[in-house]
Amino acid sequence: MKIRESGMPEQEMWEKFFDPRKILKMLGLNNQINNVAEFGCGYGTFTIPAAEIIRGRIYAFDIESDMVRITSDKAKKHGLGNVQVVVKDFMADGTGLEEKSVDYVMLFNILHLEKSEILLKEARRILSKAGQLGMIHWNYDPSTPRGPSMDIRPKPQQCIQWAMAVGFRDPVQFDLKPYHYGVVMAKKG
Ligand SMILES: C[S@@+](CC[C@H](N)C(=O)[O-])C[C@H]1O[C@@H](n2cnc3c(N)ncnc32)[C@H](O)[C@@H]1O
Repeated sequence: MKIRESGMPEQEMWEKFFDPRKILKMLGLNNQINNVAEFGCGYGTFTIPAAEIIRGRIYAFDIESDMVRITSDKAKKHGLGNVQVVVKDFMADGTGLEEKSVDYVMLFNILHLEKSEILLKEARRILSKAGQLGMIHWNYDPSTPRGPSMDIRPKPQQCIQWAMAVGFRDPVQFDLKPYHYGVVMAKKG
């Protein structure tokens, strides 16, 4: 089932809210990272720059076939052969990826969902031992130009607590001006 309040504004507007390449680098993506999974790729705003940075493959999932088509088309346009975009309801079906098969998981603008533990447990399952979890979300500030309603918008500390509860550790927090925060965590054990 599509998570609550996950509709997107027009692509042009959405992509004015971030500097994706800068954010990805701040959150630890580099050319030593092999495979990456992205839960809810939307317009591929972060998928395409991530694919250009890493050395392996990015598996990007979205429940909306339109989003999958847009992201696939962008990957083709950029001549990227390392982007695999899949229509998938990750709340109902997970990702289908092998255990410990990716080095980085991107949970970007998605953690306002009802059952965060489903997503975070799947992220932990597919991450390698040294894998990293990157989360970003809208600041907990009603003046941001978009973002989920305040009653369901998680604060950074909330994301950290949820992730710790399913086996992540060592959170590092980032201010992704002007409207977002980021948190990177490592896998426990
Ligand atoms: C707010 S957008 C964020 C897109 C992207 N992560 C970004 O930050 O640019 C959330 C995306 O998650 C997708 N989504 C919502 N529920 C989903 C589910 N259960 N399974 C897969 N994708 C889902 C939506 O279709 C939407 O494209």
